Amino acid sequence: MTAASKVPGFPDSFVWGAATSAFQIEGSLHADGAGPSDWSRFVAEPGRIRNGSTADPGCDHYRRWREDVDLLDWLGVNAYRLSLAWPRIQPRGTGAPNPRGLDFYSRLVDALLERGIEPFVTLHHWDLPAPLADAGGWRDAALPGRFAEYARIVFRALGDRVTWWSTINEPWVIAYAGWIGGVHPPLLREPASYPWVAHHLSLAHGEAVRAFRAEREGRIGPVVNIEPKYPASDSPEDVAATARVDATMNRLFLDPMLLGRYPDILRETYPGGWPDFPAAEMDTIRAPVDFVAVNYYTRAVVRADPAGLVGEAAVRVEGAAHTDMGWEIFPAGLTRTLEDLTERYGRVPLYITENGAALREPESLNGDHWEDPERTAYLRSHLGAIRRAMDHGADVRGYFVWSLLDNFEWALGTEKRFGLVHVDFATGRRTPKSSARFYRDVIGRRTD
Ligand code: FCB
Repeated sequence: MTAASKVPGFPDSFVWGAATSAFQIEGSLHADGAGPSDWSRFVAEPGRIRNGSTADPGCDHYRRWREDVDLLDWLGVNAYRLSLAWPRIQPRGTGAPNPRGLDFYSRLVDALLERGIEPFVTLHHWDLPAPLADAGGWRDAALPGRFAEYARIVFRALGDRVTWWSTINEPWVIAYAGWIGGVHPPLLREPASYPWVAHHLSLAHGEAVRAFRAEREGRIGPVVNIEPKYPASDSPEDVAATARVDATMNRLFLDPMLLGRYPDILRETYPGGWPDFPAAEMDTIRAPVDFVAVNYYTRAVVRADPAGLVGEAAVRVEGAAHTDMGWEIFPAGLTRTLEDLTERYGRVPLYITENGAALREPESLNGDHWEDPERTAYLRSHLGAIRRAMDHGADVRGYFVWSLLDNFEWALGTEKRFGLVHVDFATGRRTPKSSARFYRDVIGRRTD
């Protein structure tokens, strides 16, 4: 890699990381007393997951975690974003913690710290203990309190060593894919439940932040996925549809968390109306946070269409480059996202906790040599986009590639490969791709 291909201009204090999530990499779903989750049950149902892939053993990280820590060390990251499996820690979602579940994460945290790698821990990345899913999942008003109880267990067990925490990964995906799109558990299409599900997710976040402040020093914030919305035309209909869908996705969680209210446009336009939630709950949701973590992959181009939830439809941009997920590659959307967040919520510290591309992999040349120049180009262009937002005043403190490993991409299974490191799912063998060497080189420049 030549010096010219490196990405200049990031401060020495910048956090360089890679990200994964528990359900997507661990496998061994029932080991050491872990309970079932909504996702472990879902993958066990025949025909649910593309190509029949299961998350078990998947990447087999639960058994091969030492090797993965070695890979992170080789990569040179100074941070690693992981999530904890709630069903390992509270197998039934409530009650006494399972020490063997906590021990797994405790050993992992210690091994990371020994290598100088700061763990950024997400409390919940979608794998909900099955009994809680059966009690109504995020539609159930009791779940925020249960989540705070779980969070308290974790803060007590790991908070002496983990400084960086985030609450719930991408609450919008939980609410939308589970309760509107019907593609993730609980597979529902219930627009009337959506405001309640969203509200309970925000409340769970707020209660966990409060629990954290009572237990520990450190840093905590939400993780949202932002997909900036662009109208397909200047027509007032398209522009209005764009504003509505922006509110139902991009502002749905950050407005209450940072401004203490839901967007007015939801009250005015959400089908069936948007409930008035109690002021005390809005206060809890607004518990002060230390940063906002943003996951960015693509933008959306929007036109008016009565068939959509809020009268919108997404338009595919023909002629643009798309990843294997069908997501347009649009780095300028990341600059805009970071600038918009700064304008709307003030100069809050921002971390990009996911960014990356699923790419169809070429055949291996000789089994240990994977060339993925498109991923390198994706990463390079998005790092440039971040740099531009920083030049324009956004307070961006860190960046995590999604993902360290090829992994289990939810309902799409193991076919969608996001990794810096190739995983052979038949053998578990890990092989860094050329994009991993690129990223290693970028990071190396920082720590020289
Ligand atoms: C995000 C999820 C993550 C991964 C990427 C591709 O929505 O947080 O788990 O699936 O998309």
